Amino acid sequence: MNIFKKLPIVLTISGLVATMGLSNDLVKQGEELFKTKTLGNCIACHDINGKEDIQKMGPGSMGPKLVSLSAWPEKALYDKIYDPYTTNPISQMPAFGKSGWLSKDEINALVAYLKTIN
Ligand code: HEC
Repeated sequence: MNIFKKLPIVLTISGLVATMGLSNDLVKQGEELFKTKTLGNCIACHDINGKEDIQKMGPGSMGPKLVSLSAWPEKALYDKIYDPYTTNPISQMPAFGKSGWLSKDEINALVAYLKTIN
């Protein structure tokens, strides 16, 4: 077969692999933000269902244990982190986006991570 006929296939496959790599990186970045005290510090308040390493870090219990977040639409997760008061006016969770603690990209990484929680 002519190399130029194969090229689109090769490009499609490498594109897919690159996209998968990228989303894995995003999930990892989100997990770092979640666990790191000087960053998102979500573990100060949240436990995660079934994540042993997080369980070992001794999460706080001020917020609910995070379960089944994979079922949440991405926008709902984004909005919750950006400003929880829009859906819960008496929320004790800080408005990470609105207050400027986390950037749009950081919140997107957290959303990618939270979508992996069953
Ligand atoms: C000071 C404690 C605190 C911190 C820190 C905190 N949260 Fe929360 N979070 C809460 C509380 C309390 C609720 C429940 C009230 C509400 O839904 O607003 C909540 C709710 C949530 C929910 C909805 C869960 C559900 O099942 O309804 C998500 C998702 C969430 N938090 C994600 C995060 C992420 C991501 C971070 C880190 C960037 C974070 N939280 C940091 C206190 C906190």
